[in-house]
Amino acid sequence: MGLAASRQGLHVLACGVACLLAAEAITPGPHSAGPQDVQLNVGQAQGSVSYSVPLKRRRRQAVSFTEQGSLRSSTRLRKRAPQREQSHSSASQASEYYGILQLGTPPQEFEVVFDTGSGNLIIPSTACGSDACKIHRRFNSSASRTAVDVAFAEKPDDQVKPNGDRDVVTITFGTGEISGVFMKDHICLGDICTHGNFISVTEETEQPFSLVPFDGIFGLGLPQMSQAPHFNVLDCMIRDKVLKKNLFSVFLAADDRDESEISFGELKAERMADQLFWVPVSNPGYWQVEMEDVAIGDKLQGLCSGKCQAAVDTGTSLLAGPSDVVRTLTQRLGVKEDCSNFNELPELGFVMGGHTLKLTPEDYVDRDGRTCSLSLMTMDVPPPKGPLFIFGDPLLRKYYTVYDRENLQVGFAVAAQPRPSDVKA
Ligand SMILES: *[C@@H]1O[C@H](CO)[C@@H](O)[C@H](O)[C@H]1NC(C)=O
Repeated sequence: MGLAASRQGLHVLACGVACLLAAEAITPGPHSAGPQDVQLNVGQAQGSVSYSVPLKRRRRQAVSFTEQGSLRSSTRLRKRAPQREQSHSSASQASEYYGILQLGTPPQEFEVVFDTGSGNLIIPSTACGSDACKIHRRFNSSASRTAVDVAFAEKPDDQVKPNGDRDVVTITFGTGEISGVFMKDHICLGDICTHGNFISVTEETEQPFSLVPFDGIFGLGLPQMSQAPHFNVLDCMIRDKVLKKNLFSVFLAADDRDESEISFGELKAERMADQLFWVPVSNPGYWQVEMEDVAIGDKLQGLCSGKCQAAVDTGTSLLAGPSDVVRTLTQRLGVKEDCSNFNELPELGFVMGGHTLKLTPEDYVDRDGRTCSLSLMTMDVPPPKGPLFIFGDPLLRKYYTVYDRENLQVGFAVAAQPRPSDVKA
C-alpha cells in the first residue's frame, strides 16, 4: 500500500515540526487504493478565483528535535528518527504556520497546518472523545447538511449503508496515532470552495496531539500521497475549475510581525525579490526535485554523484539530509559552537537546474544566545523514497515557493522579506 500511505500527521506535532516522514495509513480490508487508482485528472485552469490564507505562526521553544521528528515517522521509517548532528542545542526554531479552513454547510471553521509533505485533509470529529480532540475544534457532521459518511476510500461518493461496513483508517506516528473514518463535504478556503473527501478523526493519542495549537492537517502533497484521488483537496479544486491558475504559493515571513500566507490560484510578484525559476518534480508524491550538488561558497562539493533528491515540505520546521552528506557538510562548514567564526561562515548552496538556492549563516545556523549549531538535521529516508533532503521552513523563509500542479514543477524565488533577514524575531 505504498501509495496509499500518507504521512499525515506528523506533522502535526511537530509539525511544525516535524513532520518529516510518511506515516503509514493502514486500511483494513481489501479496499485500498493502489497506484493504478491514482488518476491525475488535471486539466487547464478555467476558474477565476484566487485567495490567500493568512497564516499564524506559533514558535515552540526548547523542544528536542528527536521528539518532534519521531512524530512523523512511519512504521517503516520510525527507527530512523532524525538526530541532530550536534547534540548540545535542543532549542531550534521550531514553529508552526497554520490558517483557517471551512468545512460543511453552514461552514464550521478549523485551524489547519498546510502541509506539502502529506496528502489528506484530517479533521477531528465530535465523535472523538479523546482529550486531545476535546481541546480542539471538532467537526459536527450532523450540523452540516452536505456531509456524507463514506464507507470506503476508493468509492468516494458512496454513503455508508444502514448497518453497513465502513473502513477505519489508522495512522501511526512515531509518538502517537489517530484513527478516523472517511467523509465527504464542502471544503472552502475563503472564496475557493470544492467538495472532497477527508479523514474525520474518531480517536487520537494525547501525545502529540494535545500539544498542537491547530485542529487539523491540510495535506497538499501530490495525489500519490492521498488515501485515494478524491482525498487530494487541491486536485478537487482543479477538477471543479475554481482556481485562476492550477497552483499555490507559499510565503513564510522571517519576522513574526509580518504576515505569512499561502495563496491558492496565484503567485504574487510582490512576494519575490528576484526572478522565479522552475524545477520539474522528479518523483511525484512529495513535491520532490532533483538537486545536482551542494555548494559551500562557490565550490561544488561533489556530494550527489550527479543527483540528490529534495522534498519541499511546508509541514516541517527543519532542514534535513542524508547522514553521510550532512556529516561531510558539518565538517566542511565547521560551525564553531561558541559562534566565534559565525561572521566568516560561507554560504551554503543547493544547486538545481542551473540555479543555486543559497542560504547564509543566518539561515542555516541555529544561534541560541552564545551557542551556534548547524540547523541541518540528519535523516535517512530509506529507498525507494530516499535518500532525500528535506527543505522545510528555514529554506522556505528564504525562498518563496510555488507549487504548480498543472505542469508538475516547483518554482523558487528569493522571498521579499519586509525586514532585513538578520533581524531575528
Ligand atoms: C451536533 O449538531 C447537532 C445538530 O445541530 C446537535 O443536535 C448536536 O448537539 C451537536 N453535537 C455536538 C457534540 O455539538
